Amino acid sequence: MTDETGGHARIRRFLDEHAPASPCLVIDLETVRDRYRALAGSWPEADLLYAVKANPAPEVVGLLARSGAGFDVASPGEVALCLAEGARPESLSYGNTIKKRADIEYAHSMGVRTFTTDSLQDLENIAAAAPGSSVFCRILLEDTGALTPFRGKFGCSPETAVRLLQRAAELGLRAGGVSFHVGSQQLDPRAWDAGIAEAATVTAKLAAAGTVLDALNIGGGLPGRYTQRTPPLRDYVAAIAESIDRHFGPMGADAGTPRLVLEPGRFIVGDAGLLQTEVVLVADRGPADGRRWVYLDVGRYNGLAEAEGEAITYRIASPDKDGPPGPVILAGPTCDGDDIIYQRNVYHLPTDLGPGDRLHILNAGAYTASYSSVGFNGFPPLPTHCIDHRTDTGLRGSV
Ligand SMILES: Cc1ncc(COP(=O)(O)O)c(C=O)c1O
Repeated sequence: MTDETGGHARIRRFLDEHAPASPCLVIDLETVRDRYRALAGSWPEADLLYAVKANPAPEVVGLLARSGAGFDVASPGEVALCLAEGARPESLSYGNTIKKRADIEYAHSMGVRTFTTDSLQDLENIAAAAPGSSVFCRILLEDTGALTPFRGKFGCSPETAVRLLQRAAELGLRAGGVSFHVGSQQLDPRAWDAGIAEAATVTAKLAAAGTVLDALNIGGGLPGRYTQRTPPLRDYVAAIAESIDRHFGPMGADAGTPRLVLEPGRFIVGDAGLLQTEVVLVADRGPADGRRWVYLDVGRYNGLAEAEGEAITYRIASPDKDGPPGPVILAGPTCDGDDIIYQRNVYHLPTDLGPGDRLHILNAGAYTASYSSVGFNGFPPLPTHCIDHRTDTGLRGSV
């Protein structure tokens, strides 16, 4: 795996040479390439579907399509983007279980043949609008240790999954397999075990009733690097392999081990990005336990949505000032009281930091630009520049 300093060093060189307007996100495509290769090397037999929502920069999608990735898409917009960037329609999987019938129709008309569901209504829409397609059924897991959990929004019980997949076959669809997602930024490699166990039970029940599922979709969840320590990729690979052997082993002998499908998002792009921001204002507001308020030109609404609840705590570097560090409250530039980045978590930044000084928010390639609002308070969405040291390309407008 590429050492992340390599990618960040290339990005810093790019920022120094081109001085793009602040704020901006810069993605190092070599790191994206490396992350994809690391996953493909770890799971050579698996289908790797990049979760486009993590970072939909066309350069990222195009690079991954050329590298052989498939794509987990959530909307007609993501279908169109992937196809425009050269992905084959059959490599797309419509993983969002909340979708309009018209959106299913559109995806089907563009050649998408794999959909995920978790409800009867959605399944019937798929049968009507995408006849003959393959269907995964998403099961609900308890939130376990992910820094950005799904809070019960998606998935059904294993019993419902058995019924839905049986019904899928009756409706002329292909029952593809069980899917689940352990929550994003999952720090516990054993968190996949419960989902794999449930999936094995559903798969065995269906096999006994004559419906053979040939795949298992274990979703996303692999982490990026923030302030917390994260286990290395090999720990996730080992824990997941051990779970599959334990839960699918005996069944595998009769029905064949299911093809593994992964939907990595954050792991592929998170560490590939650096978000450059600039200090707008430093203010002393008295009672805030002596901490300075440092206002940046990026906040909750133009790139740092994942700082909500201080769930994701980015590492922050100060390339312009290196005075003695002092505690700060970090906030964004809008007039919204929610636009505070870190208050509970105490960050320390140089005491000589002032307006115009740059800060580097590290490993910020995932769920930053894609979450940015179209213009809350008139602040434009966060622009993305993708750099590729192989082709020496970089500066461009917003995604
Ligand atoms: C269905 C689905 N698959 C994959 C992902 C990607 O997850 P991650 O970025 O944690 O890898 C998500 C993220 O929300 C998702 O909703």
